[in-house]
Amino acid sequence: MALAQETKRITAQFEYTDEDVNTGVQEFLRQMNEGLQKDGTSMSQIPTYVTGVPNGTEKGLYLAVDLGGTNFRVCSIHLNGDTTFNLTYSKVAIPKELMTAKTAQELFAFLAKQIELFLKTHHEEHFEAHTQRRQTISTPDGFADEHLFRLGFTFSFPVQQFGINKGTLIRWTKGFDIPDAIGKDVCALLQDEIEKLHLPVKVAALVNDTVGTLMARSYTSPGNTSTLLGAIFGTGTNGAYVEKVTNILKPVEGQYDKSTGNMVINTEWGSFDNQLNVLPNTSYDIELDKMSVNPGIQMFEKRVSGMFLGEIVRLVIVDMLKNPNISLFRDENSSFNDWQSTTTIGGDSTIMRQWGLDSSIMSIAAADNTPEFSTLRQQLESQLHIYAASSEDAQAFKNVAYAVGRRAARLSAVAIGAIVLQSGLLSDGTDEPIDIGVDGSLVEHYPYFRDMIHEALSAIKGIGSEGTKRIRIGIAKDGSGVGAALIALVAAGMEKHNTVGHNLSAIKNDITQKVMAAIPETGSSTTVV
Ligand code: BGC
Repeated sequence: MALAQETKRITAQFEYTDEDVNTGVQEFLRQMNEGLQKDGTSMSQIPTYVTGVPNGTEKGLYLAVDLGGTNFRVCSIHLNGDTTFNLTYSKVAIPKELMTAKTAQELFAFLAKQIELFLKTHHEEHFEAHTQRRQTISTPDGFADEHLFRLGFTFSFPVQQFGINKGTLIRWTKGFDIPDAIGKDVCALLQDEIEKLHLPVKVAALVNDTVGTLMARSYTSPGNTSTLLGAIFGTGTNGAYVEKVTNILKPVEGQYDKSTGNMVINTEWGSFDNQLNVLPNTSYDIELDKMSVNPGIQMFEKRVSGMFLGEIVRLVIVDMLKNPNISLFRDENSSFNDWQSTTTIGGDSTIMRQWGLDSSIMSIAAADNTPEFSTLRQQLESQLHIYAASSEDAQAFKNVAYAVGRRAARLSAVAIGAIVLQSGLLSDGTDEPIDIGVDGSLVEHYPYFRDMIHEALSAIKGIGSEGTKRIRIGIAKDGSGVGAALIALVAAGMEKHNTVGHNLSAIKNDITQKVMAAIPETGSSTTVV
């Protein structure tokens, strides 16, 4: 009983009421607009130079790479032009030591090497054809412009963009820390390493994963509605949305297509309210921040994203373990345990270690509604080496995880709701859906995460339950691959306008024909390697 009561007391600290949601939305709108006015604000509101979203008819073969979390992905994407695509990818874990390498060059050399391996494995003919061309044909410009593949580079960290394939790193997030890279153009860093390996690849577009998600969702989403927002709720969290150029009051340097009147903005909402004007702040949030590599930064992300939720739950559990007045994962004797055993925390359990609790167990806890919590108890054993937990223990763990997860979902609704209000679409006089593409482990695997978002959206003034019915949140998988390919396509179009010389275009035609001839005729399947 004492355990249940204490759990209730602690979980109440994670309640985020309808009133809190509304206060959050107002502050989010304020900080969004502040970020559109000047640089150096907590939400960076980065102009991306992407001025339109696709409609599903785009075609071509592109390469995309994705650096943004624990893995590096390389893919080639064939856009079929009928809202479908074929994707081939390979994935490799980023060695931990490279996440905190001494120089940026070490990390980028590794990335270029992976691109080489991918091309050799999956596009050998193009690779060889390219090498042969180099030996047989010459152009007035030499071979500098002969790039068989346009590559979209999904780089999911805050970057100050100066053009569609130019941008300097503002800061690392999600556990990366290579100070040497700050302020450098990440496209140039990758292109340099690609050149060293003589690969037939040009880094054509720099893409945040949220922008990729927005583009991918817009390409594949049903009907004619174009997508308003692409958002990630995974290791990190962030959103990119379509903003009217007239609302962007800070200067946007460099060239972009002005005809649409719109530009995609990468909000970098992970840093919403770093100053803690309105964000909830329990003692567990304070401790997590203090122990992180970037105290005071990414304060919204630290309450919402997968990298941090498990750690918040762990800090609560450790606090409860230390409390002599309750017995969590501790039995006086076997008669107190419904499995007639006594609970043991293994000496090698990671529960006492920072980052020792992976957020994925929260999804298991939320999904396990059996009377005995047998799946959850099994996972407590296999993941955390907590043996023979009682059902009261499992219930307490489940309640803590739920409270932290629910607060995260309701905070996510603050970001989504504010962007819907900012767009003005709810008063456009139609009943068209307002389309939102999302990706990431939380929205994909955490049970009812999207339902909890919807519930909180309906409590927002100016949206309500009628407005919420129009908000369609759909998963956009592989956004960072397909979306990056789509932006590389836009960038290639922009290049064509800027290039003269029929030599080059003849070579391009030749290349296109060869590439298209080499693509096997397949349906809209996805090849995962
Ligand atoms: C980064 C964003 C990214 C998000 C999701 C955050 O930590 O700052 O750029 O979009 O994670 O991957």
